[in-house]
Amino acid sequence: MDKDVIHIFDTTLRDGEQVPGCKLNTREKLEIAAQLEALGVDIIEAGFPVSSPGDFESVRAIAQLVKNATVCGLSRAIPKDIETAAAALSQAVRPRIHTGIGTSDLHIFHKLNSSRDQIKERAVAAVKLAKSFVEDVEFYAEDAGRTDNAYLAEVLEAVIKAGATVLNIPDTTGYCLPDEYGAKIRYLKEHVRGIDRVIISTHCHNDLGLATANSIAGVQNGARQIECTINGLGERAGNTALEEVVMIMRQHPGLNCTNNINTQMLTGVSKLVSDRMGMPVQPNKAIVGANAFAHSSGIHQDGVIKKRETYEIINPLDVGVDHSKIVLTARSGRAALAYRAKEIGFDLSKVELDHIYQDFLLVADQKKEVDNHDLEGIITKSRKKVSV
Ligand code: KIV
Ligand code: ZN
Repeated sequence: MDKDVIHIFDTTLRDGEQVPGCKLNTREKLEIAAQLEALGVDIIEAGFPVSSPGDFESVRAIAQLVKNATVCGLSRAIPKDIETAAAALSQAVRPRIHTGIGTSDLHIFHKLNSSRDQIKERAVAAVKLAKSFVEDVEFYAEDAGRTDNAYLAEVLEAVIKAGATVLNIPDTTGYCLPDEYGAKIRYLKEHVRGIDRVIISTHCHNDLGLATANSIAGVQNGARQIECTINGLGERAGNTALEEVVMIMRQHPGLNCTNNINTQMLTGVSKLVSDRMGMPVQPNKAIVGANAFAHSSGIHQDGVIKKRETYEIINPLDVGVDHSKIVLTARSGRAALAYRAKEIGFDLSKVELDHIYQDFLLVADQKKEVDNHDLEGIITKSRKKVSV
């Protein structure tokens, strides 16, 4: 059976850039956009053009630069926003306007001071206006995660009729549980007339640490686009991490999904984004964290040295890391010590290893990590002691 291709919609330059203190200039955004295109993302959300002249200029420049990916600009369901997005995207090879409005009662009554009927009308008007500029129009139902399913279905049916090509179902506040979010996508697939003509998109936030799980639940229930960011950057606790959903699809053939991402570029792009945004990646971050392929306990090290797969489900080469790391600490065993000694040119006999291991433990108890320089010192000293 052919695998379903899941479109990867990267919003690092829009939702990701909403992280406090994460301002990027146009040159940096262009550099990141070029790498995202090379990585193979299908859609780059380049910014929110009406938000500032700088953002307009960045979206315009990215639209000129990018040739293969779709370039998308965000707008609210406000004519000026949509017109500005259209102007910024006018030179894109594949432009998409992303427009939408809050659909949960909380948003409708408290933020927008409106009614369900009025919101539906505004949604339809926004899509029609966007459609007068571009063929590809994505509609987002903000706070869809907390929106009543029957009303959500009604709005979505209306925007499909108005010409929407993609329906974004954001869990804006990161509230949903995976089965709840998955069931929402399934409900929409089963209740919205015309939905088979459009693509359903997930857009999950990570307030409860469920963004990736929710995105995958969405895919399992019929979504064919995932909105995500490099390193999971985004508002508050962030968005779904691109590297996570891509590797989940790769590691779980049972999902029967594929995507166009060149996974070997993931680590490099993660480093670029982290550097340009000034946002360090937590060491234990899945896939791209410094410790994602590092082993420090003796039991794990022994296993990995014998066969990497005992403690690694991903081949580091697949994500652009050249090898797994055996970190020498006081928890390391002889196998790790011998392995690291060999890496720096010392082939230790069993007897020698026993001696050196005791000296190693003394140093390791003083230091968090024993590096190559320390190790060379320990071995040389120990050999001198024996030869005296
Ligand atoms: O989280 C959200 O709802 C959004 C929309 C603007 C798509 O970012
Ligand atoms: Zn968002």
